[in-house]
Amino acid sequence: MKAIRVHETGGPEVLTFDELADPTPGPSELLIDIEAIGVNFIEIYQRAGLYPRPLPLTLGAEAAGIVRSVGSNVSDFKPGDRVVSQRVKGAYANRGVVAAEYTVRIPDGVTTKQAAAVWLQGLTAHYLTTSLFPLNASSKALLHAAAGGVGLLLCQIAKKRGAFVIGTASTEEKRQLARAAGADEMIDYTTEDFAAVTRRITSNAGVDVVYDSVGKTTFDKSLDSLARRGMMALFGQSSGPVPPFDPQILNRKGSLFLTRPKLDDYVATRDELLARSSELFAWVRSGELSVRIGAEFPLEQAAEAHRALAARKTTGKVLLIPGAA
Ligand SMILES: NC(=O)c1ccc[n+]([C@@H]2O[C@H](COP(=O)([O-])OP(=O)(O)OC[C@H]3O[C@@H](n4cnc5c(N)ncnc54)[C@H](OP(=O)(O)O)[C@@H]3O)[C@@H](O)[C@H]2O)c1
Repeated sequence: MKAIRVHETGGPEVLTFDELADPTPGPSELLIDIEAIGVNFIEIYQRAGLYPRPLPLTLGAEAAGIVRSVGSNVSDFKPGDRVVSQRVKGAYANRGVVAAEYTVRIPDGVTTKQAAAVWLQGLTAHYLTTSLFPLNASSKALLHAAAGGVGLLLCQIAKKRGAFVIGTASTEEKRQLARAAGADEMIDYTTEDFAAVTRRITSNAGVDVVYDSVGKTTFDKSLDSLARRGMMALFGQSSGPVPPFDPQILNRKGSLFLTRPKLDDYVATRDELLARSSELFAWVRSGELSVRIGAEFPLEQAAEAHRALAARKTTGKVLLIPGAA
């Protein structure tokens, strides 16, 4: 098999394209022939060494493909099944092993690429809007990087739940995409004071929830955008980590709530994973949820994918495709 690996941490140039022996699935695992790999921002941190992992590391966790073989305890899957998972042990590869409990069959009517593109980010948008802060027709939400992978799905699901959605994005092209995905108002947060604009749009009331994946550069003003008792959902840090924080600020700014969630805690049981995924897949099949694949790179060009994502050049989902070069 072939895999993109990190032998020493650093910039995109440290990624190597290596030939390896095929992995053997354990008793409760599947071996998958991978057809599409989801690129996620966290892999930039793992490559750079900000989130240390044992080396050499095959990057990646999100992939969709065809089951090649199954371990002796696996009864729910068989060779030939089309599957997707966010927990593949080294997804930047043409073959990968994954625990059956973290894997879901892709239904007819959803392509393998669509499944890889909607999976991790769709599950994230789902828990943010339905569990962490369940939106309804009276909710007002502010979401950053609204044309990104999570962002475009978040816009659509928030609108499905009836919320009033204010988005931010850095370019006019991105703002157009987010408007098309349902955002009611878009702000250029690179030139405008988004907290002041949010106050203006909401007649000074502020929003009930901010979904903030940008972190360092947006955190303070995100708090300033919230209504009394509003919820700050800091779910990423694409611009860098937020510095240490005094909880008293939450008191001063209106008894605010702050949470720093991660997907694993919102697909904590198999039942929860299946419930979220069946709803997501139903929306994709019916066309209610549009999945934008903004860019595809051959697997061996993973470094280019990282450069594009880090340079804010991408919209929607970025995929790596094995064997595409
Ligand atoms: N906690 C969870 O459960 C969870 C799950 C999935 C993803 N995440 C996090 O959510 C975030 C979004 O992930 P994604 O894969 O969908 O990425 P993405 O939003 O498609 O890409 C990142 C976007 O962030 C914006 N950004 C603002 N400042 C940036 C900077 N200094 N450098 C790079 N980008 C910057 C850019 O949009 P503009 O050009 O519009 O500014 C950029 O396109 C990531 O931080 C990821 O780690 C968290």
